Amino acid sequence: MILFVAISVLFWQLTSVVAMVDSHGAKNPFERIDTHSHFVPPFYRDESVKYGYGKPDGMPGIPAWTEEAHLEMMRKANITKSILSITSPGTHLVPGNDALARNLTRRCNEFAANLKRRHPDKFGFWASLPLPDVEGSLAEIDYALNVLNADGVAILTNAHGVYLGNTVLGPIFEALNKRNATIFIHPTSPCLQHGGTSQIVAPLTQYPNPMFEFFFDTARTVVDMFVSGTIDRSPNVTIILSHAGGAITPLVARFSEFATSILGLPVKISTESVKKAFRTQFFFDLAGFVFPDQIHGLLPYVDASRILYGSDYPYTPESGVLGIVEDMNQELPQVFKDLHSQKAIYKENAMEILRA
Ligand SMILES: *[C@@H]1O[C@H](CO)[C@@H](O)[C@H](O)[C@H]1NC(C)=O
Ligand SMILES: *[C@@H]1O[C@H](CO)[C@@H](O)[C@H](O)[C@H]1NC(C)=O
Ligand SMILES: *[C@@H]1O[C@H](CO)[C@@H](O)[C@H](O)[C@H]1NC(C)=O
Ligand SMILES: *[C@@H]1O[C@H](CO)[C@@H](O)[C@H](O)[C@H]1NC(C)=O
Repeated sequence: MILFVAISVLFWQLTSVVAMVDSHGAKNPFERIDTHSHFVPPFYRDESVKYGYGKPDGMPGIPAWTEEAHLEMMRKANITKSILSITSPGTHLVPGNDALARNLTRRCNEFAANLKRRHPDKFGFWASLPLPDVEGSLAEIDYALNVLNADGVAILTNAHGVYLGNTVLGPIFEALNKRNATIFIHPTSPCLQHGGTSQIVAPLTQYPNPMFEFFFDTARTVVDMFVSGTIDRSPNVTIILSHAGGAITPLVARFSEFATSILGLPVKISTESVKKAFRTQFFFDLAGFVFPDQIHGLLPYVDASRILYGSDYPYTPESGVLGIVEDMNQELPQVFKDLHSQKAIYKENAMEILRA
């Protein structure tokens, strides 16, 4: 018995040493960079409540958030770095009120930049944009990337009903493409524009939209980006899709073949070209309940080199993050058997796309 324990301890020490001197330099194979993580500055909460978003997307409320609690969650979940963003409904709260949106966007971005300045090893951020205000967003792209040192931008799947293939957003993608920027695409509630106004439209109002509408809205906007030619015109942007791409993956052949064979649209897309874009330009994060099943819908399209870890904290509370992390520790190695792939997903892929 004692011999067995001694051998076990020895074995454990040896494997620890091997892990520590591993050529990829990561001491712990389960260290993570979290590219899907949110912050809720107090003034953002106040403005959200003031303008009718106290129960965002049909959820019961806006979760509590502090810098200290975030760092504590990171410590428990072995997250070495969190890339923060403002989640749905974003920073353009009142349709038509661009001045309010520019102000709130700037304050959120300054707040995140301050966190990154004080904890450069712990925090990065995807800057918010006041979309659908194009002029304000162009100014914010400059300021956030040049002055605030954002790691990229966060864009919601639609901005008051403007989906991401809309031609009015042409200048935005042109500006981001020129800078080789990273765009973190996060879902929001589906929205319809009519007669100069816009309205959230989710037929089954008894369910909060993050439950499944978010996945449909992700699919909707990604289809729009490909079929409108936005992706084709923006070869230098890197795009991160939340939640393993939501509902997009089973639709790839459907929308690309439909667009060309059935509609005869003059757009250069095919199942193969979309797959190639996924393999070269897109990343997919693991936020949510991606294991054990959803991950298999992604694997025909991309390998471990295009997958990122995401927690969705604090909209997934700390207990949920830790539960999912424990499950992922078990499930991920069953799908990605080699340590190299596991580390790529947890940390190294993210290091490639983050700015210093
Ligand atoms: C965090 O890393 C330690 C090793 O340093 C490991 O024992 C523990 O299981 C990890 N925790 C999680 C939640 O991955
Ligand atoms: C936002 O608006 C407030 C109130 O008008 C003002 O005091 C503040 O300077 C503005 N902040 C930015 C970043 O524009
Ligand atoms: C994109 O990057 C390529 C190099 O990979 C460069 O030749 C091209 O000019 C860039 N395109 C745009 C629109 O910035
Ligand atoms: C964008 O990337 C291309 C290589 O892919 C490089 O040639 C170009 O200088 C980069 N542009 C910027 C603004 O970083």
